[in-house]
Amino acid sequence: MAEPKENVLMEKITSLCKRRGFIFQSSEIYGGIQGFWDYGPLGAELKRNVKELWWSTMTRMRDDVVGLEATIIMHPAIWRASGHVDTFSDPMCDCLLTKKRFRADQIELQSGNAYHYNGAKDTVSGKEVSEPYAVLLAAGKPPESARKTAAQFYAQRGLQSVELLGERMEKVEGSQRFNPENGSLLTPPVPFNLMFKTYVGPTATEADVAYLRPETAQAIFAQFKNVHETSRQKVPFGVAQMGKAFRNEVTPRNYTFRSREFEQMELEFFIKPDEAVEAVSGAVATPASKGHPGEPQPNWGWQLWHQYWVEERIKFYEGIGLPRATLEEYWQKPEELAHYARACVDILFKFPFGTQELEGIAARSDFDLSQHERCSGKAMGVFDEELRTAFGKLPPEKQTELKDRYYAARLKYLTKMGVPLDKAGAEAQEDADGLAKGQYIPHVIEPSAGVDRLILALLANAYSETTKTDDKGKSETLYVMKFHPRVAPIKVAVLPLLKNKPELATKARAIFESLRGHMMAFHDEAGSIGKRYARQDEAGTPFCVTVDFETFEGIKDGPQAGVKDTVTIRHRDDGKQERIAASELLPWLLARVR
Ligand code: GAP
Repeated sequence: MAEPKENVLMEKITSLCKRRGFIFQSSEIYGGIQGFWDYGPLGAELKRNVKELWWSTMTRMRDDVVGLEATIIMHPAIWRASGHVDTFSDPMCDCLLTKKRFRADQIELQSGNAYHYNGAKDTVSGKEVSEPYAVLLAAGKPPESARKTAAQFYAQRGLQSVELLGERMEKVEGSQRFNPENGSLLTPPVPFNLMFKTYVGPTATEADVAYLRPETAQAIFAQFKNVHETSRQKVPFGVAQMGKAFRNEVTPRNYTFRSREFEQMELEFFIKPDEAVEAVSGAVATPASKGHPGEPQPNWGWQLWHQYWVEERIKFYEGIGLPRATLEEYWQKPEELAHYARACVDILFKFPFGTQELEGIAARSDFDLSQHERCSGKAMGVFDEELRTAFGKLPPEKQTELKDRYYAARLKYLTKMGVPLDKAGAEAQEDADGLAKGQYIPHVIEPSAGVDRLILALLANAYSETTKTDDKGKSETLYVMKFHPRVAPIKVAVLPLLKNKPELATKARAIFESLRGHMMAFHDEAGSIGKRYARQDEAGTPFCVTVDFETFEGIKDGPQAGVKDTVTIRHRDDGKQERIAASELLPWLLARVR
């Protein structure tokens, strides 16, 4: 899918992010490095909040998910087994004139008149270049500009006074063969592996090649047996991991959306194959029509587990402030699915530059563990006593039916992987016999999210601006980052109304000290109270607490007149203020920011 270019709103967001210290270009003082971004003080807090919320939702708040923190560099055999060495590539092409590199599948479709040349000749030296070349022009444009571009191309090949040879015009519709910026012909697309290579050890030979992980998921598969044995979890259960991933993207773009170094939050949720569920529960539950299927049940097959995780993940996004209306579900079409996947739903967010993927939730069958079992020679299956007992009690015809189905699925996988038919048949038979004895390789549902894309979605969703004009006609634009309090980088700012009143300043500092151990709090004395509110609005701080004269002198009027030791809370999004007892401040805030 072609990704549209940046737009005005994105420019405003990136400018605010830089001005307020959310995101900086990596290595900026040396001109930057494309596809790499740093998070400034506010961005670092925002990111930390998002990751902690994901981790706690996915692991600590669940009985059936445990965590893992694996290394970024792993044995290169992992990436051969996973298929990344052979197939993790994007089609890449270069402009024949400027050498600019493009992702061939993301070039916008172009139509017009293509002017082709067989070659060119130097009219002075007589030298000929026989390399063909072409330039695309919008329909109706005279061929002169194509000739000019073509002359430049041949001049780069050593001709000084260029005579173009064999010009012919062809009408072109929906082509991705030309540079959309200058019409020049591109090189034919070639696959470009996205993994960053490095060497482990001092010799730096081909034998020492290793890769920076392009996803966190594979470590979970490679450590599946260790985690299963040590965590005392039984299938169905999941393993969650978050951390850095690296992809040498051909064209990083749209700010942090497509970066070369980024972070992922991935869950591999291991489930029984449907044949095992059917043997134990009598039947696999039919998928619910739409929506959340409710609490997990023993008779769920892969379809219900998949639907469950799609809904759980949407619930998570809504819970951190992305309204349902900003999200879309995209069910991949059968022809779009990876060969091992049974289904994949992308959760899309309406970014300012278009509706694009935030997270993918794939039903990956038993492909990953099967691959690691075949390639490492280590068994990746589990033994399930309940299945063994239940299978033994099934009528013979049911046993045969389930074994046949399991055999067919295993045979399909093995032959797809190139295992010769007779060997694959024998192995699939062994697997089917194993099922009857309570053994199987778990299937997996994988919700895989990108931290940086989520941060970008939260920034885009939070951004708001209003222009105010004062009595003298002077206008000012005010920016408010309307983050959900759970993700907001600063939860509360404590402000004395006036800096030069020691009792206000001392009290404000004391309140700040009492809060900072519980949440990210900020203390600010500098400038007018209006300016300080505006600074916090730009940072996205949901609550400002002001210590004023009524804190000491007592509330002036109303039912609580005379009550002392109170503070004002100002709400970011509507500017409304309320007064509460200073002693109630901490529980009041905790109830809203967690
Ligand atoms: N293990 C499956 C996997 O890695 P993916 O769709 O390639 O699947 C999962 O990546 C998520 O990682 C994406 O939905 C996206 O949020 C994030 N992601 C992938 N490539 C990225 C990039 N170049 N920059 C930022 N985030 C990226």
